[in-house]
Amino acid sequence: MSSQIDHLLNENREFPPSPEFAAHAVAKPEIYERAAADPEAFWAEQSRELLTWAKPFTEVLDWSNPPFAKWFADGELNLAYNCLDRHVEAGNGDRVAFHFEGEPGDTRTVTYSDLTDEVKRLANVLEGLGIGKGDRVALYLPMIPEAVAAMLAVVRIGAIHSVVFGGFSADSLRARIDDAGAKLVITADGGWRKGKVSPLKPAVDQALADRDGKGVQATVENVLVVRRGENDVDWIEGRDVWYHDVVPQASAEHEAQAFPAESPAFILYTSGTTGNPKGILHTSGGYLTQAAFTHRNVFDLHPESDVYWCTADIGWITGHSYAVYGPLANGATQVLYEGTPEFPKPGRWWDVIEKYGVTIFYTAPTAIRGFMKQGREIPQARDLSSLRVLGSVGEPINPEAWMWYRDVVGAGTAPIVDTWWQTETGAIMISPLPGITAAKPGSAQVPLPGISATVVDEQGTPVDNDNGGLLVVTKPWPSMLRGIWGDPERFVDTYWKMFADKGFYFAGDGARLDEDGDVWLLGRVDDVMNVSGHRLSTAEIESSLVAHEATAEAAVVGASDETTGQAVVAFVILKESFLRENSAAGLADELRKWVGTQIGPIARPRDVYVVSELPKTRSGKIMRRLLRDVAEGREVGDTQTLADTAVMSVISAQVK
Ligand code: WT7
Repeated sequence: MSSQIDHLLNENREFPPSPEFAAHAVAKPEIYERAAADPEAFWAEQSRELLTWAKPFTEVLDWSNPPFAKWFADGELNLAYNCLDRHVEAGNGDRVAFHFEGEPGDTRTVTYSDLTDEVKRLANVLEGLGIGKGDRVALYLPMIPEAVAAMLAVVRIGAIHSVVFGGFSADSLRARIDDAGAKLVITADGGWRKGKVSPLKPAVDQALADRDGKGVQATVENVLVVRRGENDVDWIEGRDVWYHDVVPQASAEHEAQAFPAESPAFILYTSGTTGNPKGILHTSGGYLTQAAFTHRNVFDLHPESDVYWCTADIGWITGHSYAVYGPLANGATQVLYEGTPEFPKPGRWWDVIEKYGVTIFYTAPTAIRGFMKQGREIPQARDLSSLRVLGSVGEPINPEAWMWYRDVVGAGTAPIVDTWWQTETGAIMISPLPGITAAKPGSAQVPLPGISATVVDEQGTPVDNDNGGLLVVTKPWPSMLRGIWGDPERFVDTYWKMFADKGFYFAGDGARLDEDGDVWLLGRVDDVMNVSGHRLSTAEIESSLVAHEATAEAAVVGASDETTGQAVVAFVILKESFLRENSAAGLADELRKWVGTQIGPIARPRDVYVVSELPKTRSGKIMRRLLRDVAEGREVGDTQTLADTAVMSVISAQVK
């Protein structure tokens, strides 16, 4: 990591926007001053301009009870109406909302009229199943148009969605369903991944089975199932309902009722520093305002002519804000692709870009590094000349990957926007604006207009340029999380306690300001890992490892990885009785698979090292810093605070 940071700090290339791009850009340089002069007035203006309010708001920000913010509180709107009906009413019903491409190669063109119609029918079905305002609906779906329709139908009726990434296990799904008290699950039989049907419904069945022994009340009344994979599924009469049996038959008349701006829209679970994922709560008016504003300005969206593609799954916040709410509120035409980049062979993504003439492309550094490894011949064999804006998200992008992205994918001209934000922030916070910012490879650069963020030391004092520290947001923002579902205390403790006297939001990231004051993200400073742009908690994986009968103790660290940014590396102490009967290598492999089935394949450790001791302080805290040194093949740092200073040489010898 430290060599990467040195490397970053030596990076001094700059790429100013071309005059042609600047001339047609959505955002003009004066936007920064306008926003800084009166941020609240700025957000109010953006909200009125970008959204349609059924009842206009007169209040902007209510920060009288920090950190519980209210934005536009006396206004009323309907999120689905803003994403759908109003575009149809404006005469844009025939505009393509989604060019859907299934992994097997099947395609569907979904216009704004089509999607509006589908959502209205589904809204009627949901109401028929007894779902109403404030009820929670869990979604566990592949990347198909029905997934987008489901999200919008849920918010249309004032219910709350909780999308669970389809790669999570039955146990992870169960934990999320129970925490939110979901009344309905919307899933599919299965979806296509890597040339095969990856079943989903069985995981839902398993998640809903045998509650009794666990002392948890089952809250789910129905399971609505989309047919996609055509795999055989078990069926519980009375509980399970086929989507195709009820949605096409339902009425396409459904009037969108307006809800107060602070009505909850969705919960999205993300990992923190403890074992239990946090249900991040987002509400309506402020969320949609910032999602729409950032989508339009950061990506320079011209909705009449652009074809936009965000590769994120809807199971993550990027999929929520930049594949559903932001783009649809802006009336954008998007690509929705179901599968993996490598199917049926490397280059599928470039084929999709060529086929649909994608102009704006938003993906993660991990994907870019993966493509770099395969070689530039693959993208160069396709016509990518339609691309004019490239985005990056989820993890720091190293300058090499940035340059490759620009040169090979963007023909050496497309501006790159490196967007920093989080599940909690709801929308982009720090990013260049194409057409304005002179881009620096590897830096997220500047807070967006209307956003106040900076880098501070541990006392909360802003650092000078050319210094590092902790990234904080210093003023409330419209799409900020409104809490952690069911746990207001954890919300305050996690994000607001660190700088309570200043009222700063602590993001958990380390960052540096360069000599111009631009922000360079340096990774998490807490026990959270970032693997392929996805957040994983060390504690969550440790508790999965110790849940295995062979494990006595476990410590997990994120070690830097050439492709995935960080990789999960576990150090485990096994029980003697198991080691007597099995090989350490065999048990290590079993544990890797175990985590994959317990949490999901993304959490599967890259390496599991069987060791006889773990480095602990006198108070018993595991010193992950030292384990990270071992995992990254470095000389082990200062061991003075260890209870037993000899432990590290034992461990180093054991992992060789
Ligand atoms: C964490 C948030 C934002 C949606 C995807 C991830 C890291 C995010 C960047 C970036 C450096 C980044 C941070 C952040 N991160 N974007 N452009 N440069 N780091 O959302 O799962 O909530 O994770 O991702 O560490 O805290 P998330």
